[in-house]
This record gives sequence, C-alpha cells and structure tokens, in this order.
Amino acid sequence: MDIHKTSVIINISTGILTGKDILCSRKLIRDLVGVFGNEQVRAELPADDLVYEVQAYLPVDEGKEGGLFFGNSTVYPGKVDKEYYMTRGHFHRDLNAAEFYWCIKGEGVLILMDVERKVCAEKMQPGSLHYIPGGMAHRVANTGAHKLVFNACWSSDAGHNYQDIDHHGFSARLEEVAGKPVLMP
Ligand code: F6R
Ligand code: MN
Repeated sequence: MDIHKTSVIINISTGILTGKDILCSRKLIRDLVGVFGNEQVRAELPADDLVYEVQAYLPVDEGKEGGLFFGNSTVYPGKVDKEYYMTRGHFHRDLNAAEFYWCIKGEGVLILMDVERKVCAEKMQPGSLHYIPGGMAHRVANTGAHKLVFNACWSSDAGHNYQDIDHHGFSARLEEVAGKPVLMP
C-alpha cells in the first residue's frame, strides 16, 4: 500500500501554509472603512497599506457538518491613531461553533465579546492557546512592532456573521496609552 504525502504543509516555525489548495485573502487600509474608531485618520493612511492577510485550507465544502477548516493569519504592525491594526472580527453564524487560535509569532491581544456585548481579552504570545467559545465575537490586534502570526481551527459549518460587528462594532477598543495596550470602553 502507498503512503501518500499530504497536500498541505505547515511550516511549524512560521505558521505559513503551502500547497495547491490554500486560499489567500488580504485586507488593506482601503478595505477597512468604518472598522477603526478614528475613520478620518484611517482615510488619510496609505490606501494600500496591508493590515492583515489570511491563508485558509478548507478541505471540505463550507457548511458541511462535522468537517474542520484551518487558517493562518498575519496581522501587520501599525496603528490607526491610537488603535492597533486588527482583524475585522466576527461572530460565527452558528453561535454554538467554537474555535481554537494559537499564536506562532509576535505579540497581540485576542478581544472577545459575548452576545450581551460584554468584552474580555487574552494576551497572545508565541505558544499561547486560545479557546474561543461559541457565541463570542473574536478579533485580534497586533500590539507589537513585528508581524503577529496565529493559526486557527474551526468547524466547517460554523459560518461567519460579519454584519453584527460591521453595524455595532465591539463595545471596547484596544488602544495604546502611555506605550501600553489598554482596552477602552
Ligand atoms: C475563522 C477565523 C479566522 C479569521 C481571520 C481574519 O473563523 O476566526 O481565520 O477569519 O483571522 O479575521 P476576520 O475573519 O474577522 O476578518
Ligand atoms: Mn472565527
């Protein structure tokens, strides 16, 4: 019997995925209208500044029950006024669907918000493992001077609800105050 190679390789020191089935997406400053607290400052930043990029390995169809998806996200260092570069953030469409994040490189903060809009946050550093329970919106801010890289694993029928965050945001923002990250209501 043949022993096959896998179609996807993860570089365990950089978190980067390679293989023919990897999807890539990027969010530039121009794509993030309304995401940061100071929209005027965002609009004045170079439109093609890269804020974050995601590699995704989706081995089954989206929506399939019982399957898993894998992602590698990189958030670049930067700030919009005092607010750190961060991901848009989302709830999963299925509020029962949890997710694991784990940090490979850099430093950051995982910001979590429940459906009552109560916020909490966890520090991300190489090796930190984050269990995101179902019903918690999640976003990641890069608080360091270098790239923040993290991997993720979530269920293929979790779905994504971006609308809620697009309309109402999170009830707290992560800002730099006296050189340190502070969660501001
Ligand atoms: C998947 C997941 C991550 C994020 C990625 C980008 O459920 O949570 O792979 O999708 O970090 O963040 P968003 O999707 O909020 O733009
Ligand atoms: Mn998610």
